[in-house]
Amino acid sequence: MSRSALIIGASGDIGQAAARQLAAAGWSLYLHYFQHATPVQQMQADFIQKYPRQDFFTLAYDLTDETQLDQIIGQLFQVDAVIFAAGTTTYGLFKETTAVQLEQLWEMHIKTPMLLCQRLSEKLARSDYGRIVFVGSVYGGSGSALEVAYSTVKGAQSAFANAYAREVASLGITVNVVAPGAVDTKMNQLFDATAKTQLRSEIPISRMARPDEVAYWISALLKKDASYLTGQTLYVTGGWRK
Ligand SMILES: NC(=O)c1ccc[n+]([C@@H]2O[C@H](COP(=O)([O-])OP(=O)(O)OC[C@H]3O[C@@H](n4cnc5c(N)ncnc54)[C@H](OP(=O)(O)O)[C@@H]3O)[C@@H](O)[C@H]2O)c1
Repeated sequence: MSRSALIIGASGDIGQAAARQLAAAGWSLYLHYFQHATPVQQMQADFIQKYPRQDFFTLAYDLTDETQLDQIIGQLFQVDAVIFAAGTTTYGLFKETTAVQLEQLWEMHIKTPMLLCQRLSEKLARSDYGRIVFVGSVYGGSGSALEVAYSTVKGAQSAFANAYAREVASLGITVNVVAPGAVDTKMNQLFDATAKTQLRSEIPISRMARPDEVAYWISALLKKDASYLTGQTLYVTGGWRK
């Protein structure tokens, strides 16, 4: 039987890249989305055709609504790996960040993923080698003005991985964070051409990452041979910042 991964945020650009790599590597997938069903439905149809021996399911869920969690968990059978690749940011001065925005960032990036880890721990422990990967951010390590609350919850993902990794190590589960710098995805659509040029000039590799260059490290962490790395944050930044 193939191994199964739950990708939270499979409709996002990094999530889609991870899904393509993992499907090609033989994984069965639960493809989560929030508002955009089309990309996951297209991947599902494509994968079913290309990889008929694997299973592909889709599921919708709002990470800011924890009341539906058990309904989601009830849809899952075998889960060997969970990838948290969902979430948004808010731009602006911290003093103007509202309590509602703070709550949503906390729920999306930390609270609901933590609740999911609790509920999936038995399934992950039953796996030969369970894997949890967060897509964090370089801002979780170095912080960013105008994204103070986002930087805080991204840093909390690394802190959670660091602690939880120690608690579940004896169960064969590893917990790590892949922390990208700037990735060319929808998340950065707000940047105009001038801002993108300025950003590129700060990055030693002189460009943003492609989503597949981030997904590469997610896929690598899911391999059996990645078993001795846990509690770590890998900064995939093209040499930028951290
Ligand atoms: N792009 C970057 O430069 C960059 C850098 C560092 C870290 N990251 C992190 O990488 C992860 C993926 O980002 P991306 O660049 O791939 O962005 P993206 O293409 O905009 O994808 C965002 C994903 O988050 C999902 N999502 C948004 N709000 C949600 C909610 N309330 N509940 C459940 N899912 C929700 C979206 O689902 P729907 O589309 O279905 O609504 C989508 O799957 C995020 O955690 C982000 O913080 C990105």
